[in-house]
Amino acid sequence: MREGRLKGRRVALAVSGGIAAYKAIECLRLLTEADAQVRVLMTPEATRFVTPLTFEALSGHPVAADWLAATAGGETHIKLAEWAEVIGVVPATANTIAKLALGIADEIVSGTVLASRAPLLIAPAMNDLMFTHPQTQDHLAALQSRHAVIVEPASGRLASGKVGVGRLAAPERIVAVLEAVLVQRRNLDGVRVVVSAGGTREAVDPVRYVGNFSSGKMGRALAEVAAARGAAVTLVTTVASNPEGIDEVAVGSAKEMLAALERASVGADVLVMAAAVADYAPDTIAPSKLRRTDKPLDLHLRPNVDILKSLGRRPGLFRVGFAAETEDLRSQAQQKLAAKDLDMVVANQVGVDGQGLASDYNAVTIVGSSGVVAEVPRLPKWEVAGRIWDAIDACRNRGS
Ligand SMILES: Cc1cc2nc3c(=O)[nH]c(=O)nc-3n(C[C@H](O)[C@H](O)[C@H](O)COP(=O)(O)O)c2cc1C
Repeated sequence: MREGRLKGRRVALAVSGGIAAYKAIECLRLLTEADAQVRVLMTPEATRFVTPLTFEALSGHPVAADWLAATAGGETHIKLAEWAEVIGVVPATANTIAKLALGIADEIVSGTVLASRAPLLIAPAMNDLMFTHPQTQDHLAALQSRHAVIVEPASGRLASGKVGVGRLAAPERIVAVLEAVLVQRRNLDGVRVVVSAGGTREAVDPVRYVGNFSSGKMGRALAEVAAARGAAVTLVTTVASNPEGIDEVAVGSAKEMLAALERASVGADVLVMAAAVADYAPDTIAPSKLRRTDKPLDLHLRPNVDILKSLGRRPGLFRVGFAAETEDLRSQAQQKLAAKDLDMVVANQVGVDGQGLASDYNAVTIVGSSGVVAEVPRLPKWEVAGRIWDAIDACRNRGS
């Protein structure tokens, strides 16, 4: 789980009464695991779906639910409103969304939100017809215009058994957006980002390929962090994972990746090339499966398409390349920056146990046109992705 940024931060987790209320338990678990301080408040309806006891046990604090009872459980709505640095309504029912949009305060969740000026996150979950109803959409638009951050629900199987939009976003995504809101990093709103990920696969015959050990994890983390910070993200990857809230394009070879990136980068603001593109590809692809024999097999490889060079510089597109190096990170990165005419290069050391290709950790040196921008020590790829986006932001805003 992400470390650092949520530690000690004060999060009010407001649960309203829908089927997805049980998923708020997972959000609470992720938040407490990241060392956030969490107070849970529940609408009276929510307590009928999930018992407050579970939230109390996991948060280590009483749940505020019945604000009219003498012993209301947790803090009063005014105290909670003052205490919270961010309020996340998870899940947000159509009813609660309507109340928040209109300023109705008839139980502790809506009362606390109205009494607070903390940033507000809303994660709707409901039947697809309720979600797409113009009334619900109007209420969400009204809340958004007042700077509430909406974590769009996913499409999928709903509680009714139907397939449609309205499923609560994954708890990991909700917590990622909460973190971005909390540390004021919703700064990619309206920015169009394209990320490439994974190792390309260059066919030898219909069943075999030449590839590399890239897992696509760094690229996926970059895509997820950008989405959590508000960007519209396209992930072009050889390791498809169907991430929520991200437009994913699955590809195999470098040629396919180039074609997909050419399409995706039209109108984009930032292109991050985290994919490990094979430098060489088989000269010819055998039309049918090569048979095993007792003789050695010679594969003739030719230099592969150079994606960054082929894509070229485009007006308004900030281009970031990755360099996997075994030594001399800084100078290799600087050389690549110049050779490929990039705005930034992220160099990562490979060949070190426990980081880089296929690992969940990475350590990188970030080089921009004015020199080294940041040295990021070994951290989970999620955290490294955050540092890379911080660096991209700083350089784009400086206009370098
Ligand atoms: C079994 C059941 C499941 C429900 N699931 C949802 C849901 O997923 N989303 C929603 O918006 N409302 C759902 N509702 C309706 C809400 O529970 C109802 O609007 C309630 O008044 C919400 O109260 P609250 O917003 O104060 O928590 C459901 C109702 C029932 C009986």
